[in-house]
Amino acid sequence: MDTEIDCLISRRNCVRMWYQIREYQDVDYSSVRELYSAGFREHEGAVCVLTLKQHWVQAVLLGLLILFLFLFGSFLASILCLIGVLLAGRFAVSCLFEQGIQLGLSEDLQDIRASYMHRGQVSCFWVAESKGSLIGTVAILPCVTEPGAWELKRISVRKEFRHRGLAKALCRTALEFAARHKVERVVLFTSLVQSDALKLYHSLGFHKEEEFVWPSLCARLINFLVFKYAYKAAIK
Ligand SMILES: CC(C)(COP(=O)(O)OP(=O)(O)OC[C@H]1O[C@@H](n2cnc3c(N)ncnc32)[C@H](O)[C@@H]1OP(=O)(O)O)[C@@H](O)C(=O)NCCC(=O)NCCS
Repeated sequence: MDTEIDCLISRRNCVRMWYQIREYQDVDYSSVRELYSAGFREHEGAVCVLTLKQHWVQAVLLGLLILFLFLFGSFLASILCLIGVLLAGRFAVSCLFEQGIQLGLSEDLQDIRASYMHRGQVSCFWVAESKGSLIGTVAILPCVTEPGAWELKRISVRKEFRHRGLAKALCRTALEFAARHKVERVVLFTSLVQSDALKLYHSLGFHKEEEFVWPSLCARLINFLVFKYAYKAAIK
């Protein structure tokens, strides 16, 4: 069943929306995975900034600059070496992001139909399309870590179509689906660096319930905070 967000009543006229939200189909597979990867990769810059804000990183960089000055006796050569170190760090962040992307692609996005669209399964994956192109996604399924709650996942909108309310419409589609299934609690996980997503969740009525440092060595080193947001549905 397609979700009908097809028509916006404005004053006297009925105007077609510029996008359509519908359930996932197998033809969407590559575009969904590509959109997810692009959305994930976008946060690389923010993670680099977060890394540079850590006092221990600043101390190490200063120490290296002094060491290079001592070794080469030239300010220019030392700065060039430091730039090399920073580029190596940027490359390391890119590699970590690629690992993160591959992890997501090998989990629920490996077989999207089996993960979300199985008959009788209480979960769903939606895509938004405009002029035949896939421009946004959202999914919902029972939360593995919290029985009784459902989890909103894979929220992403193609860059050129942002700030026009599409993510909000996608999330509302998923929240209405949850309400129809009498689900009172919807949760999601996001992170400090996903600033646009944080604004979106607040505007939808989610509130932050928990925050914790992602349990990996690299995440601990840069104090990478993950947030759990919750939404309480008013079931009629
Ligand atoms: C987060 C994301 C999905 C938002 O998509 P979007 O289509 O631009 O969001 P919307 O236009 O629906 O905005 C919804 C609300 O978020 C807020 N918002 C979103 N981006 C904003 C921005 N840059 N500045 C200020 N507010 C913003 C607004 O309050 C807006 O509410 P309003 O319409 O009542 O003002 C999009 O930025 C994205 O795909 N990011 C990359 C992937 C990602 O981080 N996903 C989240 C995973 S947890």
